[in-house]
Amino acid sequence: MTFLNEVTARYPNALSFAPGRPTEEHFDVRSVHRHLERFCDHLSRDLGHGPAEVNRTLCQYGRTSGIVHDLIARHLEVDEGMQVDPESIVVTVGCQEAMFLTLRSLRRDERDVVLAVAPTYVGLTGAARLVDLPVVPVASGATGIDLTDLAAKLRLVRERGLRPRGCYVVPDFANPSGLRMDLATRRALLDLAAREGILLLEDNPYGMFHDGSGRLPTLKALDTDRTVVYLGSFAKTVLPGARVGYLIADQRVRDAQGRVGGFAEQLSRIKSMVTVNTSPVSQAVIGGALLENDFSLARGTVRERQSYQRNLAHLLRGLESRFQRCPDVSWNTPHGGFFVVVSVPFAADDELLERSGQEFGVLWTPMSHFYDGKEGRNQLRLSCSSLSDEQLEEGLNRLAALFADRGVDPC
Ligand SMILES: Cc1ncc(COP(=O)(O)O)c(C=O)c1O
Repeated sequence: MTFLNEVTARYPNALSFAPGRPTEEHFDVRSVHRHLERFCDHLSRDLGHGPAEVNRTLCQYGRTSGIVHDLIARHLEVDEGMQVDPESIVVTVGCQEAMFLTLRSLRRDERDVVLAVAPTYVGLTGAARLVDLPVVPVASGATGIDLTDLAAKLRLVRERGLRPRGCYVVPDFANPSGLRMDLATRRALLDLAAREGILLLEDNPYGMFHDGSGRLPTLKALDTDRTVVYLGSFAKTVLPGARVGYLIADQRVRDAQGRVGGFAEQLSRIKSMVTVNTSPVSQAVIGGALLENDFSLARGTVRERQSYQRNLAHLLRGLESRFQRCPDVSWNTPHGGFFVVVSVPFAADDELLERSGQEFGVLWTPMSHFYDGKEGRNQLRLSCSSLSDEQLEEGLNRLAALFADRGVDPC
């Protein structure tokens, strides 16, 4: 990521398909003030807190597991049909901290490993590296996870005397692949994980942003065996600047001293030593946004969803019109989210990215960054979330010029 940030900084005038950032079209700092007010009103009007208590809730150090856990539980019920005990929720500093805490707790000694669908979101691989937990890649196939490969990898890992502790998946419009798991795959994955005794770490920042084809139930909504730890983010549904995410960990676990308790409690104890608590001011902003939308972010993000749907359709149409007759160029057709993966007949590596920025004024992400081996060398990830129509059009023209320079005949 550092390299990509550096490239972006070197070519500030380049059009960039690289960052998976939400659109800034609807950012409005006044809504931050409004949400804060709304949350404070909720504390005083709905919960009967006096002014001193309201001040303390927002200005003082706070509860480690968070202060908007009950509001998040209501949002999960309204938008995801999930019945979640608020006590099993830990509010975190972005989804990134939720990943870190979960991986840290799964890593007891050098025999532990985590599996992850490859290509893998770099935030997960980075956090795993920090806690010294090896990541074993599982093929994604066409359905978002190749279950035969998952079973084979679990066997292989165990034969080597290692302990597979969990498998990380992004079932909805994954970053970077854009793939969505179908319902049958979700059910089969849950069965397999329960049989094998591994946790599924379900990360879901893009689920709201379907292309009009509707949503599928999350793994957690289908989870009857407490197999899933759910990792949530408000970065794409409210605002990334608040840095608020959460996890749901409703499992019972034994800690290092042999005490049995809630997994959320255990993760909260780790959090108390990492970030102490998530900023109550930031949580109040998110809480206010949930209250303002009657807990439905599906309703609260209609404009964003439509904008991403439009951009994704524009990007796919643009690829079609430029490369449909190029037999060596292909791409997938995601049903939502921010990302499309393009396969090309040349190495789409860091060196080419540098040239692409310098000579063609267009940036993208080499897919090799999402693998730990040689895979992805001929693929690039295009993100369409934060570009205007004109930028998308011009960016695609520049991309076509780069491809032509690499020997791809325009059609
Ligand atoms: C798959 C995935 N998980 C998590 C995140 C980060 O979430 P947060 O900003 O809440 O830490 C991202 C952000 O790009 C992502 O793509």
